[in-house]
Amino acid sequence: MTPVVRTVADLRALARSWRAKGETIGVVPTMGALHDGHLSLARRARAECDRVITTIFVNPKQFNNPEDLKKYPRSEAADAALLATVPVDAIFAPLVEEVYPEGFITTVSMAGVAQPLEGHMRPGHFDGVATVVTKLFGMSMADKGYFGQKDWQQLQVVLRLVRDLNVPVDVVGCETIREGDGLAMSSRNVRLTVAGRAKAPVLYAAITAAADDIRAGHADRMAIREAAEAMREAGFERVEYIELRDAETLMPSDDPRRPRRMLAAAWIDGVRLIDNIPV
Ligand code: PAF
Repeated sequence: MTPVVRTVADLRALARSWRAKGETIGVVPTMGALHDGHLSLARRARAECDRVITTIFVNPKQFNNPEDLKKYPRSEAADAALLATVPVDAIFAPLVEEVYPEGFITTVSMAGVAQPLEGHMRPGHFDGVATVVTKLFGMSMADKGYFGQKDWQQLQVVLRLVRDLNVPVDVVGCETIREGDGLAMSSRNVRLTVAGRAKAPVLYAAITAAADDIRAGHADRMAIREAAEAMREAGFERVEYIELRDAETLMPSDDPRRPRRMLAAAWIDGVRLIDNIPV
């Protein structure tokens, strides 16, 4: 069985013992409810590092909606069984009090790339992410940190964070893993009803069609409007945004010579889904 570490002191002791032997440490930060997307990150870390730590921590500071935090799926035993198949060297699953002990008052707050889209729709979300990722990197003495491209804006936030704060961690962004019908894997997918699950792949299909149209020379706005229309017709109750942005800064971009990304967030059957693709 993979050792489960609960305290920062124990995690540090483990990391120090590995570092003393000259071993490299890869960290895969997660909030649990693991699926193949997470496992692909852990496998990549396994291939590239001597030691792999997966962290499982549902970080209250990144939830702007208390209901979402309450409903967030938790399944540590099943997660541990999945991680044993990789395998990883340790699971770090601390209590909230261990990560945010009494008196905790520091926040890592980012402007720029953290502000639009998810930052706008979920105020405080990226401060929570930036704070916990900074802490997890520090606690684990990581050489490399692995993040999925499904949360594209989060990946850009973490890349910016390590640059701006001189955090000595190499951040690795990994391809989004999709179900056979195109739906991006997400821990929130388990909350979809059968009907919602059947309609959910339209999100990826619609942004893929829009990206194809834009590459073929169609007007950006028109292609995006058609994608939103297709999603509403399929039964999405709310399309929060579909945007074509500069892939790195997440600012609006009509410059096809720079890497661009189409990002979307929408609600189906009361579940908020996000996805993104290169354009
Ligand atoms: O992507 C996630 O699951 C979380 O935002 C992360 C990176 C583990 C930080 O809590």
